[in-house]
Amino acid sequence: MDIGEFKLALEQLVQDAERDFAAANTPDALEQARVAYLGARSGRLKTIQKQMGTLPPDCRKEGGLAFNQAKQRLQQLLADSQQRIKSNAADSGPQIDPTLPGYRPHLGTVHPITQTIEHLMEIMGRLGFAAVEGPEVEDTWHNFIALNIPEDHPARDPLDNFYLTVAGQAIDDADAKDARLLRSQTSTVQIRVMENASPPVRVISLGRVYRPDEADPTHFPMFHQMEGLWIDREVHMGHLKSVLRLFATAYLGSDVQIRFRPSFFPFTEPSVEVDFQWNGQWMEFGGAGMVDPNVLRAVGYDPEEVGGFAFGLGVERLCMRRHGVTDIRDLYRNDLRFLHQF
Ligand code: DAH
Repeated sequence: MDIGEFKLALEQLVQDAERDFAAANTPDALEQARVAYLGARSGRLKTIQKQMGTLPPDCRKEGGLAFNQAKQRLQQLLADSQQRIKSNAADSGPQIDPTLPGYRPHLGTVHPITQTIEHLMEIMGRLGFAAVEGPEVEDTWHNFIALNIPEDHPARDPLDNFYLTVAGQAIDDADAKDARLLRSQTSTVQIRVMENASPPVRVISLGRVYRPDEADPTHFPMFHQMEGLWIDREVHMGHLKSVLRLFATAYLGSDVQIRFRPSFFPFTEPSVEVDFQWNGQWMEFGGAGMVDPNVLRAVGYDPEEVGGFAFGLGVERLCMRRHGVTDIRDLYRNDLRFLHQF
């Protein structure tokens, strides 16, 4: 082999190596290229090195020089590619484009029923009603007896109430004086307030009540009521109707239609059911009436001296009517797509 051919072979080798090292994008591919060009046994550089012995003696120095240059170049190519692959791997994580506009993280919102409760308290507060609370676990006195609901009344049926166990013992006698239950109505709070304060009384109480109902679009085993009570020397049915009308127009709009239907509740006499119109149909939102003298007597009030009205409205229904929600279960599914709309 003469020196010209030898140098040409080296040039060709460097050219091929530049192409192949540049194409290697993974550690494996680079290792293949390294073995092909710089492999100690049968790499292409080694093959050319062996041919150096066939050069005429007076060309060997020149050949050796050219060989060393080519070898250094190959080693440089290998080092460059190693560096490139390493920094590519470091860059392959999630990319941030700092020029994009920012977005607000979801901070969460107040639950629609809590929002409704706050709104109702605000409206009733303007009408002079102070908000009070009572316990969710109640005794039969506050949930039934003081409310003039006699022992044989169907409302006290164990099938219609969540009676609780006391000290791990099931209460099979729902009429027992110490029977406990999850309150089935917020009317309990009327009793608690009147037991602890003398008239006049003007309060509302908003909270959870529990009934073993099958969940469907209009029922849920837990829901909320807004209870109202106004006791004074001269409170009559006209006050009741005015207060509920003012409340309804404030919460549901000035065009709301309201209707009072004669009804019966043990704790009021006379009693009415309260309907609002929704999409052209009458819908029941709760009950109301003039507090029964038996209830006043149960808390130590004198029915000859004072009297008043009471009402109880379903909070979920009010919220649904205002916001156009058609299934009560939507309020308790915890689906953020629903909840974020409030
Ligand atoms: N407690 C009744 C219920 O849950 C609603 C109700 C009716 C409350 C008449 C009242 C009332 O205060 O006067 O169905």
